[in-house]
Amino acid sequence: MARIKISELSEDDLPFLFDLWHTPEVMKYADEFPKLRGWSKTEKPEVAWNHYQTRRADLGKGYVQFILRTADDTRIGESFFAPLEEGYTFGKWRKPDGLVCLLGDIKLMPSFWRQGLGSEGMRLVVDWLFDHTPASLLIVPPHRKNPAAERVYEKAGFVLFPGMKSWYGHKVMELDRERYGARLSG
Ligand SMILES: CC(C)(COP(=O)(O)OP(=O)(O)OC[C@H]1O[C@@H](n2cnc3c(N)ncnc32)[C@H](O)[C@@H]1OP(=O)(O)O)[C@@H](O)C(=O)NCCC(=O)NCCS
Repeated sequence: MARIKISELSEDDLPFLFDLWHTPEVMKYADEFPKLRGWSKTEKPEVAWNHYQTRRADLGKGYVQFILRTADDTRIGESFFAPLEEGYTFGKWRKPDGLVCLLGDIKLMPSFWRQGLGSEGMRLVVDWLFDHTPASLLIVPPHRKNPAAERVYEKAGFVLFPGMKSWYGHKVMELDRERYGARLSG
């Protein structure tokens, strides 16, 4: 039986998200994509919620905030993905022209680390994204000092972008729809 479930953000999840982003161990090698997300710096749930809905209406389902829960509904983490604009670069990585490409990550509260829950959650997120969006490519930016993140992404099918060692300490990992399909059939 699955230990984890993912659901799209509701307004009453926002205090949990703000707590997560204020947990120093969680944010040590990560940020909350303030620019891509657009509302993480507000502390007001209603402002954040309205902003999220507006962006989602503009950008479609590829702009998505997930909450991860255990089977008994305890919130344990989040994952966020958003579409990249044409010409977007991350160091030497450049968004392929004309393809829908989503950038994101996953974060769990520290008390839930090292139990395989991040790996399980990330696989659910990847399945959802390829099922519900037209994305051709997903990318994630694990910090070079964050082997747990790199391993979680690797187990979900991501591979390192070979064209760049790191940029401001972050590597880039990619998972395209074709590789994802091969994972499912293999
Ligand atoms: C990254 C994160 C989501 C991993 O979640 P998790 O539930 O602890 O990961 P898992 O238990 O599924 O472990 C995944 C793999 O990483 C390995 N791992 C876990 N912690 C590790 C560590 N500190 N050092 C090295 N490897 C580690 C595990 O052994 C496992 O590999 P295996 O299956 O080959 O044994 C969690 O550490 C986290 O929320 N970190 C803070 C936020 C963050 O940095 N997110 C990534 C942003 S890019």
